[in-house]
Amino acid sequence: MNPQDGAVHATTSTAEMITQSTLASFQNTKDPRTKELLLAAAKHLHAFATEVGFTTPELIRLAEILTTAGQISDSSRHEFLLMSDVMGLTMVVDYLTNKKPAGAHESSVLGPFYRADAPWTEMNGDISRQQNCGTPAHFSGRVLSLDAQPIAGAVLDVWQVAGNGLYENTDPDQCEFNLRGRLKTGASGEYSFWSVKPVPYPIPVDGPAGLILKAAGRHNMRPAHVHFIVSAEGYQTVISELFTSDDPYVEGDAVFGVKESLKIEYQLHESAEDEGKYGRPCPFYTATYDFVLVPGRTKQEIAFSAGRA
Ligand SMILES: [Fe+2]
Repeated sequence: MNPQDGAVHATTSTAEMITQSTLASFQNTKDPRTKELLLAAAKHLHAFATEVGFTTPELIRLAEILTTAGQISDSSRHEFLLMSDVMGLTMVVDYLTNKKPAGAHESSVLGPFYRADAPWTEMNGDISRQQNCGTPAHFSGRVLSLDAQPIAGAVLDVWQVAGNGLYENTDPDQCEFNLRGRLKTGASGEYSFWSVKPVPYPIPVDGPAGLILKAAGRHNMRPAHVHFIVSAEGYQTVISELFTSDDPYVEGDAVFGVKESLKIEYQLHESAEDEGKYGRPCPFYTATYDFVLVPGRTKQEIAFSAGRA
């Protein structure tokens, strides 16, 4: 190969000269974005190795760990993304990808447990589709534009774990689509539905992501949360989660998914008066939250995007 074509091979003796040769070898990359990514990856990977004095045995160990990550992954488990989650990379990328103006509803990870086509649920309906799957909780609020105008006909796609910390598609004791539902807002942008109060749950630690957590002495818990995808014609679709504000893990989410604006408070109801008001036996919780959307293109289909969350 002609050394002048950009693919200059290493006849160099220092790490810095090898870095320069590597960067030169990518100069003819046709696609501009691919070129940018390759150049930055080489530059930062080399800098990382230099900073920590990375050794050949450590490089081989890293290759073994990445091989294991591939082997343990399948269509419903994405170990590389779980590693990205616990390294905080997923949420750094989320911030970079989903910048929102002040006051707008913020995004968070989709997680691997989303199922499309959840049953439509009427206003004030119940997405708990079987008995004894948690303490009942009533959710309500509005979907609004940035200028506080109601968005009628917005769609909320909701899913969460049961009181045992499991999603229905990972729990043989739960019925199909339990604690999943889609709702449409009314004329004033309002929504309301019954579900259960979510609980914290662990992310899997039997793969390389678990190695990272174990090495660091970190826990593997996510704070209790309810997943929402909120969409409306003419507005940006938002994939997000609402976190229980007083959850013991809310300040230490294993995947760093919590944002301040995504915390909600649950109010416990235990009085006969509240039973009459809500038509439910106590105890139960209520929580309210308004989703504020930004004008833009509506995402039609949600593909698996990020994280074991
Ligand atoms: Fe989740």
